[in-house]
Amino acid sequence: MNHPSAIKRDQARLRACPTGLDPHRMPKHIAVIMDGNGRWAKAKGLPRIMGHRAGVEALKRTLRLCSDWGIGALTVYAFSTENWSRPGDEVKFLMALFERVLQRELQSLQEEKVRIRFLGDLEGLPRRLQGLIAEATELTAMNTGIHFNVCTNYGGRRELVLAAQKLAERSAKGDLDPALIDEDLFAAELFTASDVDPDLLIRTSGEMRVSNFLLWQLAYAEIHICDILWPDFDATALRESLADYQSRCRRFGGLDPVPSDYSES
Ligand code: FPP
Repeated sequence: MNHPSAIKRDQARLRACPTGLDPHRMPKHIAVIMDGNGRWAKAKGLPRIMGHRAGVEALKRTLRLCSDWGIGALTVYAFSTENWSRPGDEVKFLMALFERVLQRELQSLQEEKVRIRFLGDLEGLPRRLQGLIAEATELTAMNTGIHFNVCTNYGGRRELVLAAQKLAERSAKGDLDPALIDEDLFAAELFTASDVDPDLLIRTSGEMRVSNFLLWQLAYAEIHICDILWPDFDATALRESLADYQSRCRRFGGLDPVPSDYSES
């Protein structure tokens, strides 16, 4: 039997689900490439950093909506291994922004039962940020709400190489028979180990690239690309992404519906 608080939570989600969407067919995990902060700022005659500031507000909005609408996990691309090549001032600003936002929002993340984790090569980040990340991860680790993953100094190829290295080390030590390495064992070495793969990838600002994001995990994700610049992403935009997702027929490489002339021989 379901616990009364779990039933209450499900009922609240059914009420919160926007009209036109099927609450039973929501993605369990959404991944987002938050693109267009710079263009948003430029269009308004503002410096690029103002776009990143507005991007934080869009991210807070999206996290709350996903949580209210019953989505189990949200993974966002905040800083890629390639983003270090941006002008030094912008990189510095972004690192300081991550620190400020983490300090400022940690309490409300905790109150809203969010489990936050940072995925990526965290040792390459500034020391202070590493400390704040460790604190936030530990504090929220047992939270039962939405899983919020922030990919920071993240690269999909790097993640795959690291996973291969870890498996190779175990094999070299004689702890693992290479013949036993399968998809589950490989996935268990990725940063995302404890989450289901994303069902839906949203990319804003109209760019049609995967940009080294979750290369393994997105194997069967539905992709929704919208022209909206990330700081403008709101409830209507998320609802549209979800409606697009729910209109898709997910076949996972199979056939659906099974053709009527199909017969097993
Ligand atoms: C892409 O826009 C955005 C980024 C590289 C940074 C995203 C970061 C945030 C929204 C802040 C998140 C904060 C926390 C604490 C997780 P762009 O700069 O590439 O835009 P452009 O393509 O228009 O130049």
